[in-house]
Parts: sequence; structure tokens; C-alpha cells
Amino acid sequence: MEMNGLPLVVMAMETEALPIRERLGLEGPGAKLADRLDARIWSNDLVHLVINGIDPRFEVDSIGTLPAALTTFAAINYVQAEIVISAGTCGGFIQRGGSIGEVIVADQCVFHDHRIPLEGFKEYGFGDFPVADMSAVARSLGFRVGTVSTGDALDAQSCDMDRLLNVQAVAKDMEAAAVAWVCEKAGVPFTALKVTTDLVDGEEPTEIEFSANLQFASERLSEAMFSLIHALKN
Ligand code: ADE
Repeated sequence: MEMNGLPLVVMAMETEALPIRERLGLEGPGAKLADRLDARIWSNDLVHLVINGIDPRFEVDSIGTLPAALTTFAAINYVQAEIVISAGTCGGFIQRGGSIGEVIVADQCVFHDHRIPLEGFKEYGFGDFPVADMSAVARSLGFRVGTVSTGDALDAQSCDMDRLLNVQAVAKDMEAAAVAWVCEKAGVPFTALKVTTDLVDGEEPTEIEFSANLQFASERLSEAMFSLIHALKN
């Protein structure tokens, strides 16, 4: 495969990104990506990493699909990316064998909350964006390969659960499909690397389980990212 540029990792939360930045030696405050965006970017000879940044009004990480799309668009214009990796934490599913700390690489990427029952718009809302075939490398690293499904809520209502079941989602996140949407437009290969913080169909309230496991899952994500980036290099 002809490789141009480096992998571009797109992340939403500072806490998720910190262990990766430490492991990859991406120090300092990062560079401002674009005017009017809070996103910051770091680069070395292995990788570019961009984080959506802190929302100045709410003083929290800019999570969700809107910042993810804007950041990805700006970053693709700022650096030459061989592949874009949407990286972060996700919810997993007990009924599909998921567990806390499981590492997942996408082989399908869809939206579960774009419900548009109008002629032609159903498929548009679903997305089902092009995903790079990473299954061989992912399996060789011991990662699970499956459907990553994106929505703008941390919780899952029963209509979301129906759709997550329909696609046999193994990861529920809040950014991947937005990143994939931009990558399709830009003609840049896309993948997602996610680590499970909480079990969507478990007993524990998502927000409690998420917060309890965020640090552990972020460490796991940094190990997985390090392995994936090195595997892509070879
Ligand atoms: N990120 C981590 N856990 C999540 C969940 N359950 N839903 C969406 N995004 C998440």
C-alpha cells in the first residue's frame, strides 16, 4: 500500500489522551489547529494527535459529533494524514461478550440516533461510512473487530438499543461516525480504536461506571494505540 503522511489520531477528552501523549512523547500545550477552534494538535515523526479542546464557556472537553467533525476537517487540512484514527472510550455490550478494558477496532461505523424515516434519508442517517480494513492487524494485536455506533448521548434509550442490537454494535461512542463522515468527504482512510469503560446493557449507571473506569481504559487505550501505530509503520 502507498503510504502518504502519518496517522492522524482524533480524540475528544484530555483525560483519554494524556496517557497516549505521554507514551508517544507528545509534550507541551500543542499547537492551535485553527482560528475559532479550541482544538490543539501535536506531531512527531510517528503520528499527529489532535484533541477537540476545552469548551471555553462550559469549561469541559468538547465531546460529541459537532466538535469531532470540525476538528477532523481542520486537522485534515492542516496535516497530510495517511489514515485518521478516531480514538477514545466507548460503551460495550455484555450480550455480545464485551468487558471493561476491551480494545475494539471498527469494521463498520454507523449512527444509531439519526432516525429519519423519510424516503432515502434512512440510509443517509445510518451513515455506514467507509472503514479501512484493519481486521488482520487488529486481530494480530488481540483486539476485537466489530461495529462502532455513534450517537450524541451518553445514555441509551430503548430506540437506540434496538438499533445497536440490529447492527450487533460492540462499541457505542459519541464521535467515530462524525470523524468517518469527514474522512469519506476528504477521501482519507478511516478507522476507530476504542476501549470499553462501561457496559451499556449492564446494571451499573453508565455515568458512574464510565467515571470509575476512565483512567484504566485510557491507559489501555494508550498501549493499544502504541501497538497499532507501530504495526501500521511496518
Ligand atoms: N463513551 C464511553 N462510554 C460511552 C457510552 N456508554 N456511550 C457513548 N459514549 C461513551
